Amino acid sequence: MVNLGDVFPDFTAQSSKGEIKFHEWLGDSWGILFSHPADYTPVCTTELSRAAAMQKDFAKRGVKMIALSCDDVESHIGWIEDIKDYSKCEFEHPIIADPKRNLAVKLGMLDPDEKDAAGLPLTARCVFIIGPDKRLKLSILYPATTGRNFDEILRVVDALQLTATKKVATPVDWKQGEACMVLPSVKAEDEAKFFPKGVTYVEVKSGKKYMRTTPQPE
Ligand code: BEZ
Repeated sequence: MVNLGDVFPDFTAQSSKGEIKFHEWLGDSWGILFSHPADYTPVCTTELSRAAAMQKDFAKRGVKMIALSCDDVESHIGWIEDIKDYSKCEFEHPIIADPKRNLAVKLGMLDPDEKDAAGLPLTARCVFIIGPDKRLKLSILYPATTGRNFDEILRVVDALQLTATKKVATPVDWKQGEACMVLPSVKAEDEAKFFPKGVTYVEVKSGKKYMRTTPQPE
């Protein structure tokens, strides 16, 4: 089990692109590890196709992507041909093999409700977003039967990267380009220094001055 803020566990595993030493593979980049229940399954194929189509969007943000699925490398290599065919895109990122569920157990990713033909539990759909400091910044966990929303994954990358560098948080349903909230930890006397575009105080009934917005920083 990994908690927010923990250093993400390092591991060595086989993948469709050879052996991966996870921390070495991450380098100084942001990273997304997203897991899949099994190869040659319909929902996973749509998800990896979307990931392939959005590869450039993630790369533009300095984010490396890596998938994991419970099957072996040979199966991954065959399945990638289907993904390329379905998505009409190149498929650049590695898929980690985890046939014995070693990583799925270590990272708390098993879905007890979905089992393979041998009765082994499948891996749930986890998204782990890891910062350049190798610490876990965000995790999302879906059951095997619910496909993820990759626009949402890109949106939260933007939100995390803004918070990491610009002292803002992002409000409900925030999208790229919209106003952000000033972090509660920023003192009023520091607002001008950190937010040259200005800060607006939103009036609330209590009269407390905690709702501060600022245009999205550059
Ligand atoms: C799928 O990827 O389609 C899938 C995998 C496991 C359980 C249910 C659906």
